[in-house]
Amino acid sequence: MKILHIDSSMAGEHSISRAMSSLIVQQLLTAHQQDENQVIYHDLYAHPPSFLSAVAMKAVRSANLEGLSDKEQADVRAIHQAIDELFACDVLVIGVPMYNHTIPAVLHAWIDQICQAGKTFRYTETGPEGLVANKPIYIASSRGGIYSTAETLQYDQQEVFMKSILSLLGLQDIQIFRAEGIGLVEQREQRLLAVQQQIQAFSWGRNHQVQATSVPFMAE
Ligand SMILES: Cc1cc2nc3c(=O)[nH]c(=O)nc-3n(C[C@H](O)[C@H](O)[C@H](O)COP(=O)(O)O)c2cc1C
Repeated sequence: MKILHIDSSMAGEHSISRAMSSLIVQQLLTAHQQDENQVIYHDLYAHPPSFLSAVAMKAVRSANLEGLSDKEQADVRAIHQAIDELFACDVLVIGVPMYNHTIPAVLHAWIDQICQAGKTFRYTETGPEGLVANKPIYIASSRGGIYSTAETLQYDQQEVFMKSILSLLGLQDIQIFRAEGIGLVEQREQRLLAVQQQIQAFSWGRNHQVQATSVPFMAE
């Protein structure tokens, strides 16, 4: 079982989404009796992908590197590598903090790499069609405020975006673990503990359909 593990938080060792995504990977490895050699890891904050350029996108489509600078050629190779890794993995684990109601720019840059028409999705007469085989995706979502209530859901451009863009590629088997309201410092540890317990209690041997697992806002 090959796991592609992506982190995108800027918070280093204090990051909630990193702690969650790391625990998810550990649980997967344990449940499937695999070792860390099965994991490809990318820290997108430490090593940000280049922003997508018209030159790189054209070269990816045409497979023609002629006339490109060294930097442009490296960008094209990086896009191919990101797409290859997406196709090759059996499971995808992504740490997704909410920044300014949406996802971190470095994660968006990776999304822009993997969303390539003709490679990971295609346009048909009946609309776009995903070209990546469905596989389990585990999202470690963290955010300072609360966005899972009927009143606040409209501001969520983070989880909603991740689900819609992954489904464009054919990826709909998405499980979200969510730590929210962690901006309240006095509840931070308690909320992290609660979501860690949810991750540990999850049935890691099985696949699951799209749903969200949320840490309740107020302690009960
Ligand atoms: C640049 C930046 C923007 C943020 N924007 C929001 C936001 O719009 N809404 C929110 O609830 N929290 C926001 N936060 C708080 C983070 O979502 C929260 O700290 C979360 O834990 C970040 O995940 P991490 O711990 O993995 O870094 C922001 C934090 C940063 C650093």
